[in-house]
Amino acid sequence: MSERYPRSESTHVLSQPDVSSDEARAFLIVTELVRDARRGYPLTARTGFRVSPDGRVGRVPEVEAWVWVDPSAEPGFGSIEVLSPAVERLFKLFLPLCFEFAGKRLAIGHLGQSLDGQIATSSGASRYVTGPENLQHVHRLRALCDAVVVGKNTLERDDPQLTTRLVPGRNPVRVVIDPHLRALAERRLFLDGAAPTWVVCSHTASLRAPLPSGVELVRLHAEAERLAPRAILDALAERGQSWVLVEGGGVTVSRFIEARALDRLHLAIAPVILGRGRAGLALPAVDEIAHALRLRATRFELGDDVLFDCRFDGKGSGPPLG
Ligand SMILES: NC(=O)c1ccc[n+]([C@@H]2O[C@H](COP(=O)([O-])OP(=O)(O)OC[C@H]3O[C@@H](n4cnc5c(N)ncnc54)[C@H](OP(=O)(O)O)[C@@H]3O)[C@@H](O)[C@H]2O)c1
Repeated sequence: MSERYPRSESTHVLSQPDVSSDEARAFLIVTELVRDARRGYPLTARTGFRVSPDGRVGRVPEVEAWVWVDPSAEPGFGSIEVLSPAVERLFKLFLPLCFEFAGKRLAIGHLGQSLDGQIATSSGASRYVTGPENLQHVHRLRALCDAVVVGKNTLERDDPQLTTRLVPGRNPVRVVIDPHLRALAERRLFLDGAAPTWVVCSHTASLRAPLPSGVELVRLHAEAERLAPRAILDALAERGQSWVLVEGGGVTVSRFIEARALDRLHLAIAPVILGRGRAGLALPAVDEIAHALRLRATRFELGDDVLFDCRFDGKGSGPPLG
């Protein structure tokens, strides 16, 4: 059930295409391929790409191409030029998603944490645990997904905008999980009109004050105070949001992992030790190493940080957690 409130005209911000570097041009190609994949039109054959000075992505014969993309080859892309590590990283991170999740649903979790597994200090300060490269990576993830999800504590502590202001691209629909409707109405994303903003809450939650204009409630059945992550993703998919970024905090991402509701986890680890703070992943204990959830991961250098791109293959059928 969803309750609609009078919605002010919300805008999806489209920045000017950035063609200032090979990395920026590669992201424009990735953006186009992801958009087509989300709509269910994956690339089916080897195709050449070129980006014009005004940022338009052209499909061209291979002899004229800057890069080619080939869904049936490994690693799925190539060029007659030597591609920079940043360009290679973009293609290696995002092309597999286009090939594997075209026309399907995708849920990606992201956290940026310290060496000692914390995503914020004990007071909740988290800006920024990881470096600028990872921040840009998060904005790119937002631009490539339909919706971005955060938990109520992140909304309260960070007052995030959840926009794509650091990269070219559409702002995602912003989704806050706030089961008891306790979040403060004056948070920026409720007021700025930068993108549709939804609050997922329990079917029994009551509003203490009118929601800001344009904010939509999505009510779901809660059990023992919890909303099932898969039910949240189902509700988003029913509303046309198929590719979802779960951006934190630790409690929210952990619940999605516990429910085996993520396809990928992007975990960025910074060479910093925060001491006791806010935990990143926190899941029920297992007694045996054999019961641990061991993931296939590819590692990427992101400035001083290391990004683990983890796959939850066979989700729902793995060993028990806890
Ligand atoms: N470094 C990073 O990558 C990163 C990213 C995001 C946030 N942060 C930091 O992390 C901290 C906040 O993270 P956090 O782990 O404390 O909290 P959080 O994940 O932001 O929010 C958790 C709360 O959201 C609600 N919630 C989430 N999933 C739910 C579900 N499936 N069912 C019902 N309710 C659900 C619950 O609200 P109720 O309590 O009302 O039940 C829960 O207590 C902040 O300090 C923020 O700055 C860091």
